Amino acid sequence: MRTIQWGALLGAFLVLGACGGGDQAANQTPADTAAAPAAQPAAPASNVTLPPGVTPEMVAQGKEIFNSNICWSCHQQNAVGGPLAPALNDTVWLNIDGSYDAIVSTIKTGVPQPKQHPAPMPPMGGAQLTEEQIKALAAYVYSISHGA
Ligand code: HEC
Repeated sequence: MRTIQWGALLGAFLVLGACGGGDQAANQTPADTAAAPAAQPAAPASNVTLPPGVTPEMVAQGKEIFNSNICWSCHQQNAVGGPLAPALNDTVWLNIDGSYDAIVSTIKTGVPQPKQHPAPMPPMGGAQLTEEQIKALAAYVYSISHGA
């Protein structure tokens, strides 16, 4: 009797495991879908013309920092946006014009008075970042928002 119950439990776990993932679409908020019809961001923007002095290596480094350091905790993995912070992978800008320099300075200063979100973005998101890391982050944000 006991053995059978455990077997059933184990079976349930296996099924759960097999069904994990694949709910990408369910995570999109209606706002995101409306703002960016071509939602799925292409692989890091091969069709983006990077500003002078910005290299693909910086974009790759910035992506790494974004998704492992503080930024993603509000903007979510790959900057798709969430309740605490906007998507950065679209062409909609709330506080700036989306230029590379404006992205750099926004990361430095944060956003003390958000337009559409409940709480401010602290300078550097609240982390300690070097000038190089900030430039890489801005390169990444620029690349995911300036695709053709
Ligand atoms: C504590 C939450 C939080 C963290 C952490 C955070 N942000 Fe933000 N971010 C925000 C909010 C809130 C806004 C402003 C949204 C608004 O105006 O409604 C914002 C705005 C921005 C903008 C300007 C977007 C626009 O449309 O004007 C950029 C660029 C940005 N963040 C990049 C970053 C980067 C890079 C990091 C990591 C260093 C980061 N953020 C960390 C909350 C956060």
